[in-house]
Amino acid sequence: KKTQVCIIGSGPAGLLLSQLLHNEGISSIIIDRQSRERIEARVRAGVLEWGSVEALDEAGIGARMHKEGIPHAGFDLAFNGDKHRIDIKGHTGKDVMIYGQTELTIDLIAKRLEQGCEIIFSADDVQPIDVKSSSPKVRYSRGGENYEIECDHIAGCDGFHGVARSAIPDDVMKTFERVYPFGWLGVLVEKPPVSEELIYANHERGFALSSMRSETRSRYYIQCSLNDKVEDWSDQRFWDEFSLRMGPEIASNLKTGASFEKSIAPLRSFVAEPMCYGNLYLAGDAAHIVPPTGAKGLNLAIADVRILSRALVEHYKKNNNDYLERYSEICLKRVWKVERFSWFMSMMLHQFPDMSAFEKRMQRAEFDHIVGSETASRSVAENYVGLPLEM
Ligand code: FAD
Ligand code: DHB
Repeated sequence: KKTQVCIIGSGPAGLLLSQLLHNEGISSIIIDRQSRERIEARVRAGVLEWGSVEALDEAGIGARMHKEGIPHAGFDLAFNGDKHRIDIKGHTGKDVMIYGQTELTIDLIAKRLEQGCEIIFSADDVQPIDVKSSSPKVRYSRGGENYEIECDHIAGCDGFHGVARSAIPDDVMKTFERVYPFGWLGVLVEKPPVSEELIYANHERGFALSSMRSETRSRYYIQCSLNDKVEDWSDQRFWDEFSLRMGPEIASNLKTGASFEKSIAPLRSFVAEPMCYGNLYLAGDAAHIVPPTGAKGLNLAIADVRILSRALVEHYKKNNNDYLERYSEICLKRVWKVERFSWFMSMMLHQFPDMSAFEKRMQRAEFDHIVGSETASRSVAENYVGLPLEM
């Protein structure tokens, strides 16, 4: 098999890249180790920056998002019961969009297949080969048979646990990492959300987040121990803990019910530099991870592939390699700013084991500063709605 760009990973990064390239007449094949069913069932992020919304519109896949998604003009920060609204729209003139990554992935897969893109699901032993040469390949097996795809470029969009990043030699790649000493326990429930907008709460018992997927479907999270298992958390235990952390006023509006999804995710900050090697380009979680507290992981993946598609279009259409050569540099500048915001939100809003009294006061002062300062609130709003894409 032969194609121009071979994309490893059929998550939002790989699928959107394929769509953007297709729209410019550039061919791609996508290859994923999971089945379509598994990919379409994964529950992950829920908030799109306005720049991401515009990118999806430009790519021609925004129709259902506009029909079913919910624009939000602000969100609440809460600290031991005190609330402060971040007026995103007032500060930036823009909204964010509530639309699940699950739905976005379903939309992208449907569109790609409808337009004739080959997506190879359930592939085993996927391996990028000869990435330094001008004729790189991706090898894989399926049903016991071995295959090889020849291409000009490989896009590593295979997430944090993928194979693409390991094709960059250790002496070339530098990694930066911070692992947080807690996780997020998330539930989905078929009940209207407790509040119209998102609430990010720091409480003495730990962080809690109220989010949603629609007017009738809520997504709630609480900080938990990394030793906790999903089985340790009955629905009742979750509702009790969530109510305590949100406080009596909010909890009085809480509609509880049987959760139909419950999972624990670890929190991590991670960056790999550079994001390319030879003809291999990393995008999305394959290159970097942010803790979920700023709702940035998905948005960062979308920004990467916008930059990568632009660089590949310049290469194929104008024979201009400047953007490909600067791909890593252009992305990383933005990546580090988003890492900073996600780290800042995480530090301000969680209870850390062994936190000193001083550090607790610092968290409170951070919150009070945002409450008291228009400038500080604007900074949070600007980051949350999405920093401009410079390319
Ligand atoms: P992924 O969505 O991870 O896609 C990678 C794809 O590559 C997958 O389909 C995978 O099957 C495939 N793949 C992996 N390894 C291989 C291989 N060896 N060969 C072939 N294919 C391979 N962000 C938020 O903002 N809010 C959240 O609440 C949130 N929750 C999350 C929960 C979890 C459990 C995880 C893992 C992430 C979460 N994120 C969240 C982050 C956000 O979902 C990611 O940033 C986003 O999915 C990145 O998209 P991606 O396309 O780069 O990677
Ligand atoms: C959701 C996840 C996040 O990490 C976040 O910051 C906001 C919302 C969500 O899943 O809805």
